[in-house]
Amino acid sequence: MKLLLVAGARPNFMKIAPLIHELRQQSRLSWKLVHTGQHYDYEMSKVFFEDLDIPEPDFFLNVGSGTHAEQTAKVMTEFEKICRAEMPGIVVVVGDVNSTLACSVTAKKLQIKVAHVEAGLRSGDMTMPEEINRIVTDSISDFLFVTEKGGLSNLDREGKRKDQVYFVGNIMIDTLFHSLEKIRRMGTGEAVEGPYAVVTLHRPSNVDSKEKLADILWALREISLDMTVFFPLHPRTGKNIRDFGLLDILDSPGFRIMPPLSYRKFLAIWKGAALVMTDSGGLQEETTALGIPCFTIRENTERPVTIEEGTNILVGTSGKRIRETFQDFKKGKRKIGKVPELWDGNTAGRIIEILSQSRTEG
Ligand code: UD1
Repeated sequence: MKLLLVAGARPNFMKIAPLIHELRQQSRLSWKLVHTGQHYDYEMSKVFFEDLDIPEPDFFLNVGSGTHAEQTAKVMTEFEKICRAEMPGIVVVVGDVNSTLACSVTAKKLQIKVAHVEAGLRSGDMTMPEEINRIVTDSISDFLFVTEKGGLSNLDREGKRKDQVYFVGNIMIDTLFHSLEKIRRMGTGEAVEGPYAVVTLHRPSNVDSKEKLADILWALREISLDMTVFFPLHPRTGKNIRDFGLLDILDSPGFRIMPPLSYRKFLAIWKGAALVMTDSGGLQEETTALGIPCFTIRENTERPVTIEEGTNILVGTSGKRIRETFQDFKKGKRKIGKVPELWDGNTAGRIIEILSQSRTEG
């Protein structure tokens, strides 16, 4: 049987890589890789293929940026042609980006089975484009691969059949553990004294409004007076900081502002951090896997296990709350977490085993 694997944006690449490595070691399933081109800059895409040992995609759809409708529609139009030509048995999508939704809907309408890796996560926040992408994708998927137990109850509540839902663990942690071994001797690449923090910000709700972004940046600047803050800038965030005239806030010796980093370079920095502050989905999970304190700069999370069992604290998005939580942290208040069930580096193997036993034609 043939699989068509889909990746589109930066957070997809670390989820698709372990599947490819697993598929290379077996012969029951043939496969091809589609890159939609949702992310296209070298730092957002190509460098991840290199770092994660992902081969050149068989198909590159080159869709680029646009409004949600434009981007989604372009992926659908181009992906439909590939599906018609290839007629795979299963289309495998990962995560919650626009490419995930576009390709799952396209495949399903051609009566091709859909497997969703990272199914069942829910923030309950329908203002997040990713929440809409998750709900739509899960509602039509035939194989739902779940990362944390909460996902099982979410899918149960939404009426998914139990025999379509598989608790397999977190595939991103496969990539994390694998990469840690490779970069054991890599440091931050910069001289830094004492404990340091790492920040990432890119969510439209945090960076698309001048007031909100400035409020958060002022809080981070204050923290940078206490400990060095590494801050790789997502293109959206960098552009908005410039357009809103907020560059001055970053002009503090405690900040290390940098372009988006490759997977390995970024890991080499954050694995040694005393504190990570982020609005990313994946980093909440990765910090929990390594036991590093994480402040999530959001009002909600679709990854509750990182709070219930891990090192994650949902701080909210006001500068005031970020400052207060940091003051507690400075006084030594830390969460001692544990690694959630099945976040063991073997998730891809479980997924490929399930897919190779399925009786789908193609
Ligand atoms: C997307 C995902 C988000 C994910 C994030 C990680 C959706 C709805 N959102 O958000 O879930 O967490 O990726 O990065 O799918 N841009 C570049 N170069 C690129 C890509 C984008 O400069 O290679 C700029 C463009 O100006 C673009 C903007 O970033 O308009 C936003 O890109 P887009 O893919 O639309 O959304 P992200 O914010 O990256």
